[in-house]
Amino acid sequence: MRVLFFGDVVGEPGLRILAQELPLLRRLYRPHFVVVNGENLDVTIPELGKAGMHPQSLRALFALGVDAVTGGNHSFDPPWAEEVLGHARVVRPLNYSRHAPGKGSLLLRKGNQELLVVNLAGRSALAHAGDPVEALEALLAQWQGIPILVDFHSESVFEKLGLAYLFDGEVAAVLGTHTHVATQDARILPRGTAYVSDVRMVGGEEGFQGYHPDFLVEALRRRLPPKGLALRPAEGPGRVSYVLLELEGGRAKGILHLSEVVDLPPANP
Ligand SMILES: [Fe+2]
Ligand SMILES: [Fe+2]
Repeated sequence: MRVLFFGDVVGEPGLRILAQELPLLRRLYRPHFVVVNGENLDVTIPELGKAGMHPQSLRALFALGVDAVTGGNHSFDPPWAEEVLGHARVVRPLNYSRHAPGKGSLLLRKGNQELLVVNLAGRSALAHAGDPVEALEALLAQWQGIPILVDFHSESVFEKLGLAYLFDGEVAAVLGTHTHVATQDARILPRGTAYVSDVRMVGGEEGFQGYHPDFLVEALRRRLPPKGLALRPAEGPGRVSYVLLELEGGRAKGILHLSEVVDLPPANP
């Protein structure tokens, strides 16, 4: 079974790039499932620098044939989070408040293929997250014999690598997201878990994690949302970042991690 996983899609440029690249990659790799991290799909409150997803962008993402959308710290940014996190094929960090909207895992089925998609967050990315190790242990107690893909959303390589070794052989893959910076460490751990510390992002290349730097730099200087500035996605050349997994019997046989510069298609008028 092959699974194609894309790192954080940033804003409307990210969606445009994915719309351009996904059909080509589908023909090339013939994935059974496509999973996308969508926590940056929209700038939801530009003057406060908030991300997350709008329902219409989420619909556009699913119209591309994406099977599941994962999240992270920005899953909970917009006041309408309940609406987007309530979608059947959207997951958000599992190790979050049980009172928060949404769910942390999702079983995908296609023909005789099954994949359990799980989203976890480290506290370095999401301050109110619970213990990701305990959350995954509890989940594994309920699921056996199903290939499991974990999107682990964290700032810390130590935490991501540690969790991957801890659950080596129990989950098919631990794929890191959140930093929007690719690491060159994709590999299969000794007991068969595919791993990469961070996949990177899909979005405008000329920016700060896929955004124009002005807002983020000023926010860092002031430690407050900058006055008169709005967070907006970067343009420039495009960047597409993904992992292709080859899975068999709940373990990984292959992992390919690529992050490439591509054309940024023009916006629709
Ligand atoms: Fe992100
Ligand atoms: Fe994040």
